[in-house]
Amino acid sequence: MMNSFNYYAPTQVVFGKDSELQVGNLLIAQKVKKVLIHYGGSSAKKSGLLDRVEKCLDDAKIAYVSLGGVVANPRLELVYEGIELCKKEEVDFILAVGGGSVIDSAKGIAWGVPFKGDVWELYEKKKETDKALPLACILTIAAAGSEMSCGSVVTKDEGGLKRDYGNDNARPIFAIMNPALTLTLPDYQTASGCVDILMHTLERYFVSGDTMKITQNISEALLRTVIENALILHEDSQNYDARAEIMWTSSLSHNDLTGCGNERNDFASHMLEHEIGGMFDVAHGSGLSAVWGSWARYVYKDCLHKFVSFALNVLNIEDEEDKEAVALKGIVALEGFFTSIDMPICMSDMGLEVSETQLRHMAKSCSDGASGCIGSAKPLYEEDMYQILKAAK
Ligand code: NZQ
Ligand code: ZN
Repeated sequence: MMNSFNYYAPTQVVFGKDSELQVGNLLIAQKVKKVLIHYGGSSAKKSGLLDRVEKCLDDAKIAYVSLGGVVANPRLELVYEGIELCKKEEVDFILAVGGGSVIDSAKGIAWGVPFKGDVWELYEKKKETDKALPLACILTIAAAGSEMSCGSVVTKDEGGLKRDYGNDNARPIFAIMNPALTLTLPDYQTASGCVDILMHTLERYFVSGDTMKITQNISEALLRTVIENALILHEDSQNYDARAEIMWTSSLSHNDLTGCGNERNDFASHMLEHEIGGMFDVAHGSGLSAVWGSWARYVYKDCLHKFVSFALNVLNIEDEEDKEAVALKGIVALEGFFTSIDMPICMSDMGLEVSETQLRHMAKSCSDGASGCIGSAKPLYEEDMYQILKAAK
């Protein structure tokens, strides 16, 4: 029987060519007084996007301060800096210009400004908060889905802790998505983003218990669309239509649409990736593709009917009597897809040499961060986490 659900996706999506030029009017509608423009390393400057955004705010007579320097796997230190800056400058709205890392850093700041205490306590799951500064974003990479999600993932350098926190109050008020802004992405980031998008749907697809048929159908359409367009972009990175398909699937894969009716989502591969990312600072999508195959082989028998549907409906594997064989062919086919877009299928593909001690450390840290158990397709404990990471070496 399907499960009841509460679907909350309040973000206004402004999608298409030149859509960033609407930012002034969108901010006026929010009656903002002073904005923090938060951005990353160099891409938004180099492309001229930041200049365009600043001009729009000047034209709209909106005051702003800027804070750049967000790195991939955004760091807690800059979140602290942003919180202090917002307090000092009496900022009442945050505009994130960038990818998942910039948006996640913006969410950390948004929670941190009204929070009495250390914002890291939220990521440690020690405290909750019911307040956040309002925020919005101009997205420059299709990947994390943070533009519509409630979540934020931040890394604390000390101990290499990559941790997430989610709260509906930080879902962006509006998300500006111009697919043309993603044309400047390096191929590796495009591919890594496509893996992340796929994984956000797969984490809600391989789950225990029943779900709704409509949810399964939407998920399979999303998965096919990502695979098809990732392959197009691999050959032709400047294809606007493929960029647009990928950008919209990034939001739909992580705004909870593909989890409606599920009892509990999986997200085990994500939790394992957070350990790899925390220790080795790899691109999130590549860490996911490195661990997924090992995870899938470890759990598929516990979630066989879903692995069979996936193989048949998404990867066009031929049906046969032996369902385990069908499921395994689906796993091999998805790994083949990862390889074909130059994504790793194990950690050594990323040039990592992971020691026994490091494997044990990641498994323990993952278990500690999740109160001992992750997953839905098959519940996984510390020893399981270790075995999966070891197989993904
Ligand atoms: O800093 P710049 O110079 O902008 O470079 C970035 C960065 O190096 C570059 N880039 C972004 N847009 C570009 C561009 N380069 C050229 N042209 C453009 N248009 O791409 C690199 C990666 O950017 P990043 O923001 O890190 O990518 P992504 O969107 O994949 O975000 C990854 C982060 O999001 C977290 C991940 O764990 C990771 O920390 N996630 C957040 C989620 C959420 N909040 O809901 C869910 C996800 O599962 C994920 O965990
Ligand atoms: Zn992800």
